Amino acid sequence: MEITSSIKYVGVDDLDIDLFESQYIVPDGMSYNSYIILDEKVAIMDTADARKGAEWWANVEEALAGRTPDYLVVHHLEPDHAALIAEVMEKWPTIKIVATATAVKMLPQFFADVDFGDRVVAVKEGDTLSLGAHTLQFIVAPMIHWPEVMVSYEQSEKVLFSADAFGKFGALCNEGPWDCEARRYYINICGKYGNQVQTLLKKAVALDIQLICPLHGPVLKDNLGHYIGLYDTWSKYEPETEGVLVAYASIHGGTAVAAERLADILHAKGAPKVVVTDLSRCDMAEAVEDAFRYSHMVVCAASYDADVFPPMHDFLHHLKLKNYQKRKVAIVENGSWAPTAGRVMRAMLEGMKNIAIVEPMVTIRSRMKENDLPVMEQLAYELLSSSL
Ligand code: FEO
Repeated sequence: MEITSSIKYVGVDDLDIDLFESQYIVPDGMSYNSYIILDEKVAIMDTADARKGAEWWANVEEALAGRTPDYLVVHHLEPDHAALIAEVMEKWPTIKIVATATAVKMLPQFFADVDFGDRVVAVKEGDTLSLGAHTLQFIVAPMIHWPEVMVSYEQSEKVLFSADAFGKFGALCNEGPWDCEARRYYINICGKYGNQVQTLLKKAVALDIQLICPLHGPVLKDNLGHYIGLYDTWSKYEPETEGVLVAYASIHGGTAVAAERLADILHAKGAPKVVVTDLSRCDMAEAVEDAFRYSHMVVCAASYDADVFPPMHDFLHHLKLKNYQKRKVAIVENGSWAPTAGRVMRAMLEGMKNIAIVEPMVTIRSRMKENDLPVMEQLAYELLSSSL
């Protein structure tokens, strides 16, 4: 596939994968992107996951049409992109690996049997590599999403090779709307590293970018301000959409009924959008995505073993890992004899940055009753009145 007359796409789709990174469902598959720049010198931009090695090699050989590449630029060492480095070095004994010093240090961890010797070129911020008419400018991007990451900017065609940044779940052959699966990907994979993404965005603003070539998902060509704007919102931990996520963890349905009732009250009071999710059954990555997406959240959970029902514990643990912050959150607990869920949820939320708990906390006893309504109404009112 041609990106421009001298930049070819040699990546691969993976429609067989059950869980990306052994944790994320990818119903539309996944792409492992890789590119080749053909000039006086030839550079391969990353490899692919070993799961699709044969397909990647076929694409590479076709694009090269017999030429021998000079460089393999490694933007990111994670095995979904770097698995084939040793095979590349074996096939072309003259090829040089171009990567950050941190990546060079990490290479032997993944390829203990390879002698990297003088076959690596460590580059740092601002270094350039001339391929002829094309010049790659390297920009370090630590923790997006590993410490060794860099992106590169090709100056003549104004192309940003953005590594995991601007990536998306989904194979290229199953192209769907970008925002939804790019958001789920970003929040769950890079969400923790908002500050680092902000640093990269500030560097990107100084460049004239016409094309973004990420390591997953489609090449971005038009309306780049839309994608960069979403990345700015997400990495600042600002809500993208005014609305309420009501997330519940219910054992026998009593908490679920209370959560649904609260959602109805929120609707009736004019909440612009209310989304209810069952943490025992939903895709956890999507629940985490929604927590980041919406401006407000309610957590509703049953008490369990003098603690909180585990699906809620798992959810809040995920939010903490991903640096969830800057939100107002309301709490509904359920308990049949000694309610403990509220105390545990409050403590977990208080361990996150800039989370304000909206009072009053509501306590349901086994099943919601009509006399619980006034406090639910009050909570809904306080939540919708609270500004971020
Ligand atoms: Fe797509 Fe962080 O690897």
